[in-house]
Amino acid sequence: MKISIIGAGNVGASIAYALCMREVCDEIALVDIFNDVAKAKAIDITQASCVFGAKTKVVGADNFELVKNSDIVVVTAGSPRKDGQSREDLLIKNALVVKSSAENIAKFAPNAIIIVVTNPLDVMVWVARKFSGFDKSRVLGMAGELDGARCRFELAQILSQDMSELRTKVVGAHNDKMVISNKNINVNLNKENFEVLKHETKTGGAKIVKLLGTSAYYAPAAAVVKMCEEIKDQKGEIVSASVILDDDLSCGRLVKLSKNGVGEILELNLDQEDLDELNASQDEIRKNINFLKENL
Ligand code: LAC
Repeated sequence: MKISIIGAGNVGASIAYALCMREVCDEIALVDIFNDVAKAKAIDITQASCVFGAKTKVVGADNFELVKNSDIVVVTAGSPRKDGQSREDLLIKNALVVKSSAENIAKFAPNAIIIVVTNPLDVMVWVARKFSGFDKSRVLGMAGELDGARCRFELAQILSQDMSELRTKVVGAHNDKMVISNKNINVNLNKENFEVLKHETKTGGAKIVKLLGTSAYYAPAAAVVKMCEEIKDQKGEIVSASVILDDDLSCGRLVKLSKNGVGEILELNLDQEDLDELNASQDEIRKNINFLKENL
């Protein structure tokens, strides 16, 4: 299996590192506009593999031809969020980067599955689909697994309980309107704690940006790796991912992944209040997509 990663910044390099450590694939290509950065990180990660005797081969360069024969291409390229910046602030800037990545993926790896990480995530999934021209099942976005992990982390803090016993799934948009529903959590919380859980989860990414000055990367990388593993091994796990729902909407849903990408999109099981929130966030995603339809 070959996995390529567009963007060798913190997120891209962390994905490559975690893929190597878990020996998910035989080959990784790191593509970045900064040729030396891509090369250096590929060598560094390969040497990390040598420590453990891992066999994954890693190459890096600024040349898109490197993605040839990829089974999966992960798009992380784009500007990360800075403190005080919303994911939507990055709209046009990152849309242009994802557009050109998608066109190159279509040219050099026409049979790949694309996993988008660039923000604003749900809108960028639509951009990648539009400019790759791929079937909608082969373009998806990583967000729900990350938000679900953040939710599990916060829930464990609230309950002072081990994370391994907790099940949390988050759906909807990858922004402050993500849907954290008690239907997708395996413990009961009182109203006050539930509100704390929602707030802490929704601001999980922003809290890291505030402390670090840039977005998170280890947890986003882990979430991408989990999706790659599920595409490869199909253990039948339900995964939260941003998927194309119609011509002007991509949003987070619970899905089953197959070797061809999105296998099945599961029905949502939400209360009216959650559905209202979901609809509001979907309207916002549509608005941004329609803006891009006219401005890209
Ligand atoms: C975050 C970025 C990956 O939520 O969107 O940290």
